Amino acid sequence: MKVILLGITGQVGFELQRALAPIAEVYRSGYGDNMRLDLCDFAGIEKSVRDFVPDVVINAAGFTAVDKAETEREHATIVNADAPGVLARAAAKIGAAIIHYSTDYVFDGEGCEPRSEFASTSPLNHYGASKLAGEVVVATENARHLILRTSWVYAVHGKNFPKTILRLASTRDVISVVSDQIGAPTGAPLLADATTHALLKLLDDSSAFGLYHLVAGGEASWYELAIFLCEQAKAQGLLQKVPEIKPISSVEYPTPAKRPLNSRLSTEKFRTNFSLSLPHWKDGINHFVLELARAKL
Ligand SMILES: NC(=O)c1ccc[n+]([C@@H]2O[C@H](COP(=O)([O-])OP(=O)(O)OC[C@H]3O[C@@H](n4cnc5c(N)ncnc54)[C@H](OP(=O)(O)O)[C@@H]3O)[C@@H](O)[C@H]2O)c1
Repeated sequence: MKVILLGITGQVGFELQRALAPIAEVYRSGYGDNMRLDLCDFAGIEKSVRDFVPDVVINAAGFTAVDKAETEREHATIVNADAPGVLARAAAKIGAAIIHYSTDYVFDGEGCEPRSEFASTSPLNHYGASKLAGEVVVATENARHLILRTSWVYAVHGKNFPKTILRLASTRDVISVVSDQIGAPTGAPLLADATTHALLKLLDDSSAFGLYHLVAGGEASWYELAIFLCEQAKAQGLLQKVPEIKPISSVEYPTPAKRPLNSRLSTEKFRTNFSLSLPHWKDGINHFVLELARAKL
């Protein structure tokens, strides 16, 4: 199987390279050399797809700076919506499928129930709006699409909340963390492995294409995540002590882009259609901490 993979310098793209290696010949693009396929270069995207003739295009690239997207709206829209549309259309022209990642930020965060794929969308910020536009155009341009909405992504490779918390925890006695936003911290390794399993199933069963929620099991606030993470990090010798962690509300931590309070996503459709279980987020954080601890040895 031939795969074009975009975004290999990112958290998910980096892990996808590992997960896809046993099943696919991967055309990597995303490093800052001549191989970098810029999502703003629509002609370049079309040419790459035409020349490499992949079976699948996987788009793990995106404009992911949520607050910056408020001021760089046009750029965010090009990368998160227009370019995925070009990719999806180019893939459809040669009969290739497309896998694309989206976000819990397509929802407004009202209520406290997990949302299904059928729930109505209403993004609170431009990042969410641009990702929602990307979902729509990918689905419209290519019937053979797998769109995976995920949340709160972290990995050893990349910039993310858990790494920021560990850095702050090693230098401060007290840290304040938002406690009224609830979601599922999801490791990039889990996303990459689950995507690869889903892709294998899609090779045999094209009825499974569509839109899915894909996050780790369980739920937590950023505050609960920070506490669990710091405790595990202390147990593994990454932190000398767990700092005092104070819960604060989103109102006390204003950001340029408003975040949804309820980011719970139901993964029933994904687990059922792909016969997979999604481990609890604490399992992923434990693995993340162990990996960081071993890297320090
Ligand atoms: N991070 C999260 O918490 C989160 C939550 C929900 C959904 N998602 C979605 O999951 C997907 C993967 O996220 P991630 O956390 O792995 O992202 P990430 O670590 O921020 O990486 C983003 C990737 O996109 C690439 N990229 C950005 N602009 C590009 C452009 N114009 N042309 C080509 N490549 C470009 C970057 O390449 P360079 O390094 O070369 O710029 C990088 O490889 C995205 O679709 C994101 O929206 C993420």
